Amino acid sequence: MSDLHEGLETLAKDFHAVTDTYAGTAVTDPYPMFAELRATTPVMKGDILDRYRVPSQADYARQGREVHTLFRYNDVYNVLKDDENWLSYIMADGFGASVDNMLLTAMDGETHHKYRALMQPPFLMPTVRRMMDALIKPIIDNEYVNVMRPDGKADLVRDFSLPFPIRVVYAFFGFPEDNESVMKFASWALRIVAGPQYDPEVQKITMAASMEAGIQLFYHVVPIIAARRASGVQRDDLLGFMINADLDGKRFTDEEIGHFVRMLLLAAGETTSRSFINMMVQLLERPDVLEKLRNDRSLIGKAITETMRRDPTAGFLARAAAKDIEIGGVLIKEGTSVSLSIGSANRDPEVYERPDELWLERPMRPVLSFGFGPHMCMGMHIARVEMEVALNSLLDLPNLRFDPAFPKPEIRGMNLRGVDAINVIWDI
Ligand code: HEM
Repeated sequence: MSDLHEGLETLAKDFHAVTDTYAGTAVTDPYPMFAELRATTPVMKGDILDRYRVPSQADYARQGREVHTLFRYNDVYNVLKDDENWLSYIMADGFGASVDNMLLTAMDGETHHKYRALMQPPFLMPTVRRMMDALIKPIIDNEYVNVMRPDGKADLVRDFSLPFPIRVVYAFFGFPEDNESVMKFASWALRIVAGPQYDPEVQKITMAASMEAGIQLFYHVVPIIAARRASGVQRDDLLGFMINADLDGKRFTDEEIGHFVRMLLLAAGETTSRSFINMMVQLLERPDVLEKLRNDRSLIGKAITETMRRDPTAGFLARAAAKDIEIGGVLIKEGTSVSLSIGSANRDPEVYERPDELWLERPMRPVLSFGFGPHMCMGMHIARVEMEVALNSLLDLPNLRFDPAFPKPEIRGMNLRGVDAINVIWDI
């Protein structure tokens, strides 16, 4: 087996492990259960994730912290937009230790505002659009879609959706071209995320693996940064930006940049893979919608938003109350966590008409799949552009459809939902 093929197999295994971890004992389709709870107990005492043996972001560290789960769109939205009263530090309780607690998502107050403002420029739309033609499209076409095309069949998970997002951000960072490292880095990122487990005995093993993956990733990233700095090459990419960035009159060291880059690798790969995978499953289930998109590519952006609404990758987020706060008549005491069901909020009938339906032209409201407010995903434009380019290229494979020789994939899980394979065929 070639190193590249072996790398892909390992990557797929690590991806399935994360899917299994966050599926727990939940049924494949949790949405009817969300609908019932949203109607009966929209502010529920306890964490619904805990009930299904899924690691809870709201109490990753298992301190026995009190948790409430919020199911309504307006409640989730109000928490996400208010970073004064709802704090994010708990987001580091799980695998934070594996990345030296360097997670923008887990920062609060001034520290968060300062780092976010500093890091934001390369992630803004004008830069990302510029990258699209120069970088993203050639990678997706030449390294993936054109390679698969003559085969007439593929597993869209392993052969495409797992590797391409990490490959793209790798290029965006300005790392040297090296597909084996891409796969290794993506696997380490997944092992970091798979650290927290419901079963404490299993967690002892996975947290050790998570810490080890964090160390490996860091020690492989730092020499790349050092080599780039030593080369003196000035290029318009993330490393170039970070090397020249100025925080309080000081430049970042290679190690400090290494911490940022590791955090971004965690945030950028799997999330995009899963969102793309879940979008493709939903579209392949609806050949009529796929055909509509094939004929009108201007609808691709709507397809991304709508499939991510129906099945968000980040199905749950969490915050801690900075003071006593009442929601829907329930008192949430200072220090208590809230587990925010994005999956439920995104299908709240008070906000979305016929919420279970895949409806590209639906009147849009702010969709919470990239979060909302001050912590809203910093890489959203990159992820959306990647998904747009990737879907556009796949639509050029004639008559793309599920391979009838395989069972149809079913998206599963409570959080970080996904499937193990999407076997497809097309005409050649
Ligand atoms: C479709 C793919 C993606 C999804 C579904 C996603 C989802 C999210 C969500 C829900 C949050 C908010 C977390 C919270 O409020 O606690 C977030 C934050 C973040 N994301 Fe993404 N993300 C994606 C892709 C990316 C990419 C490609 C990058 C980087 C290149 C990235 C970098 C970040 C960063 C740095 C944050 C932290 C922002 C902050 O706390 O201020 N994400 N993401």
